[in-house]
Amino acid sequence: MKFSISTAPAEKNKKNCLIVGIYEDGKLTAAARDIDKATKGHLAKVIAKGAIQGKTGQSLALFNLANSGFEHVLLIGCGKSDNITPSAYRKIITSAVNTALAGKATKAVCYLADLAIDNQSPAWKVRQITEVANSALYRFDDYKTSKEPAHSLKEFTIDLPDNKQKKACEQALAQGMAISHGMTLTKNLGNQPSNICTPSYIAQKAKELAKSYRSLSIKVLEENDMKKLGMGAILAVSQGSAEDAKLICLQYKGASSKKAPVALVGKGITFDTGGNSIKPADSMVGMKYDMCGAATVLGTLRAVAELKLPVNVVGIIPAVENMPGGSAYKPEDILKSMSGQTIEVISTDAEGRLILADALTYAERFKPDAVIDIATLTGAVVIALGFHATGLLSNNEKLADDLLRAGKESNDRAWQLPLWEEYQEQIKSPFADMANTGGRAAGTITAACFLSRFAKKFNWAHLDVAGTAAMMMGTSERMATGRPVPMLVQYLIDRAK
Ligand code: BES
Ligand code: MN
Ligand code: ZN
Repeated sequence: MKFSISTAPAEKNKKNCLIVGIYEDGKLTAAARDIDKATKGHLAKVIAKGAIQGKTGQSLALFNLANSGFEHVLLIGCGKSDNITPSAYRKIITSAVNTALAGKATKAVCYLADLAIDNQSPAWKVRQITEVANSALYRFDDYKTSKEPAHSLKEFTIDLPDNKQKKACEQALAQGMAISHGMTLTKNLGNQPSNICTPSYIAQKAKELAKSYRSLSIKVLEENDMKKLGMGAILAVSQGSAEDAKLICLQYKGASSKKAPVALVGKGITFDTGGNSIKPADSMVGMKYDMCGAATVLGTLRAVAELKLPVNVVGIIPAVENMPGGSAYKPEDILKSMSGQTIEVISTDAEGRLILADALTYAERFKPDAVIDIATLTGAVVIALGFHATGLLSNNEKLADDLLRAGKESNDRAWQLPLWEEYQEQIKSPFADMANTGGRAAGTITAACFLSRFAKKFNWAHLDVAGTAAMMMGTSERMATGRPVPMLVQYLIDRAK
């Protein structure tokens, strides 16, 4: 679908599907008022009949308005005019797109960029509309034998109340599209089942991505290479699987090579059975999403390359399958990591931190200015923050603040948890330098404590996305979200300034 922006009044767009707003007190937005006038008060009459109250996300489709030439008008409820939050705005836009699709619209013009949301600029609204509309259009039906027919919508125009901010809005549209493309890549990889999406599959997709942008290059390390580097932690997790582990390393060059890069390290467990510390059957459903950190790295790089951001970024993805069995690693095994530090395995289900440990050490060679890892690392973060906030832990306050701010700006928020030294006690081992688990208390924090021991040489932040990268409400409702691509792209946009 083609997205664009324009500044044509509703009167000029009569033949299109016009998306306009109504507030909870029955008041109309400016574009809706124009249509009401042109139809001699038709909208006011419909509202007086009680057909729509203006509650957030409500919708009413009107066709062929009497003698006025307007063919398709969507009234969308916007709630209280002085209190539209960013998340209510997303609801409003989602409802608008879904109602347009239900009405088989082919060309839609959205007049919802003039709503007042906190203190957000028109450009912010254009980007949100672009991202939310793209998300509403997302489908994953690779494996459905009877597919829904393709949707009718061919063009989506975002109307601006005036021309003043046109340039900023054009840029916001381009950013929104790039972020959406990145999120779609991330979602598609996440939603693939693990019998298709193996470590080699992720490596293949990464190669395809690198091929489509000149600014991207790629190197894939095989198990033999990892052996030479002493990556005992990654190899231990992989040893029970019939699939070969891959360490995928992408480089995006958008600035002078003198500029230190940002390294993004993504957990790529293509399926997490728990290994010999096997998960109960119910907890295993959803574990195909355990590579969403890896998928986020690819989605973010895709967006950055599309936007040609003047930054340098390295993407590092340890891709591994965690299986039980006769050749799999076991509790109480002691591993030697690439850093030289030894690790006693308490649970083979705490595998994410093991593969990240070696990947973080590997990141050192790029002399990064900042390292951000993205991982579906702990169930505990879901208990702490639910499905709305990504857990953030960092050894550098400036980096943490920059990411928190980027999350707010992009409506893809994180919440910081402490990384105090007191918590380090919990991962002591009587036999090795550390244990790979720290008990039930503060599970997200002790996981980050473990990672911090492999991140001493750089500014580092950890994003625990176990609650945000995918919706997993039972077996019938599961879907990758594409988060936290928006936060990370925003962070890199801010750095490029
Ligand atoms: N991949 C899981 C974390 C997870 C849980 C992601 C639920 C998404 C939803 C991770 O590898 C894991 O198993 N973590 C354990 C750690 C424990 C053994 C210390 C957990 O959270 O139970
Ligand atoms: Mn696990
Ligand atoms: Zn896992």
